[in-house]
Amino acid sequence: MTPIVYDYAGILLPKGTPAAVRQTGLGQADLRGLTPRLLAARQEVLEDLMLLERGGPIPKEKQPLDAAFFDLPERLLDQDRPLLNAILATGNRLAAQCDRVVVLGIGGSYMGTRALFEALCHPYHNELPRPARRRRPRIYFEGNNVDNDAAAGLLDLLAGDQRWAIVVISKSGGTLETAAALRIFLTALHKACGRSDARLRQRIVPVTGQSGHLRNLAEALGCPTIFPIPEGVGGRFSVLSAVGLLPAAVLGLDVVELLEGAAAMNKRFRTQPPGKNPVLDYAGVSHLMEVRGATIRVLATWGKQLETVGLWYDQLLSESLGKNGRGATPITVVNTRDLHSRGQQHQQGRRDKLITNLYAEQPGRRPIRLPRLKGDADGLNELAGTALPEILAAARQGTDQAYAADSRHTTAIRLPRLDAASLGQLFQMFMLATVVEGRLIGTNPYGQPGVQAYKRNMDAVLHGRG
Ligand code: PA5
Repeated sequence: MTPIVYDYAGILLPKGTPAAVRQTGLGQADLRGLTPRLLAARQEVLEDLMLLERGGPIPKEKQPLDAAFFDLPERLLDQDRPLLNAILATGNRLAAQCDRVVVLGIGGSYMGTRALFEALCHPYHNELPRPARRRRPRIYFEGNNVDNDAAAGLLDLLAGDQRWAIVVISKSGGTLETAAALRIFLTALHKACGRSDARLRQRIVPVTGQSGHLRNLAEALGCPTIFPIPEGVGGRFSVLSAVGLLPAAVLGLDVVELLEGAAAMNKRFRTQPPGKNPVLDYAGVSHLMEVRGATIRVLATWGKQLETVGLWYDQLLSESLGKNGRGATPITVVNTRDLHSRGQQHQQGRRDKLITNLYAEQPGRRPIRLPRLKGDADGLNELAGTALPEILAAARQGTDQAYAADSRHTTAIRLPRLDAASLGQLFQMFMLATVVEGRLIGTNPYGQPGVQAYKRNMDAVLHGRG
């Protein structure tokens, strides 16, 4: 497996950099100085997992502790292989029986799936005829809002179709957005199944926790297959459980490679020292830059297919570390598109940003070259024969040079190519880096206590108490 690379050389300032400029980057000494704390944070993350595995009481200051995401990949590839096989079999069954699958879920219960879908499927997957989709269903996301017209639009689309299914994902089983959508889409699906309960239960696959309303409903419906979200795996850390893997299996993505990529990142995390450890290096650089005032973390993706990977990371970072009046603000940009909207600010605005480029080194498809035009009226013939990936790379280099000239240094995460193995590594790297950073600064990266307030208030308003 070709490893992904975290390259922070761009942010290292030469020795003797004047103090006034020093806050724009890091010296080797800064990184060396952080090493003991980074190693202690890694140790704590490893011990968190052991604490969960021992099954004893969790100390109050550690609650909630959702560290079980860590070794999910290894477990699914090994002792939990029967579960992985069941996920693959169900994905293949839905793909054979259905032409559309509606994924219901919100936050961590759908963002990873959307990232996998957009990064690894044809950019116009849903528009393609079935053979061009490798006989895999079209995918839609709902239950991630309470948007009447969006839901109505999807119901319009499904109305003429009988071959569709629902994958409903909610760890708690009680999230109102998802639960309300399930009622609505369940009613439509029942109709599409000719009001047959037996057919309906074959077309709904719930992914949920051990208990809760969704599990109750699934059992009441008699759904033959209910996939678990294991105890100790929180929503935004669940992409490599059935939450992300079942939709990935429906789409025919290489689920085993995805997990192997994540397991390879775990190995690097456990064994490599700072300087060679992408998780520790990313967490360390991000933390040191935040201390220097870079409180906005820009993930600059190069290529449209990485946008929802960025949005998945936005959620991971926001909900994990945006606590106690602290936590960097993540922003995903897609370049070159957003150079024409945000580029000005990143070049000359406040010096409060750490920019990390994220890109695949190889395009997935044969490079498209600029054709020669008779007459050269648009003046582009000088570039005739140049491929789009070359133009994108030139834009990236040009942008980095322009930022560096203004002491706005960038780092990069390079994927050898955009495939399941690279994404598995990347997801795991970001999840681990987020918990390491949390432990480094004393913020519990698990749980999202703040979000409960809106849920309580919404509930009170709906029940006439607000
Ligand atoms: O990361 C999280 O835990 C949250 O974003 C949840 O995924 C989100 O709130 C949905 O929760 P549930 O899966 O319980 O419906």
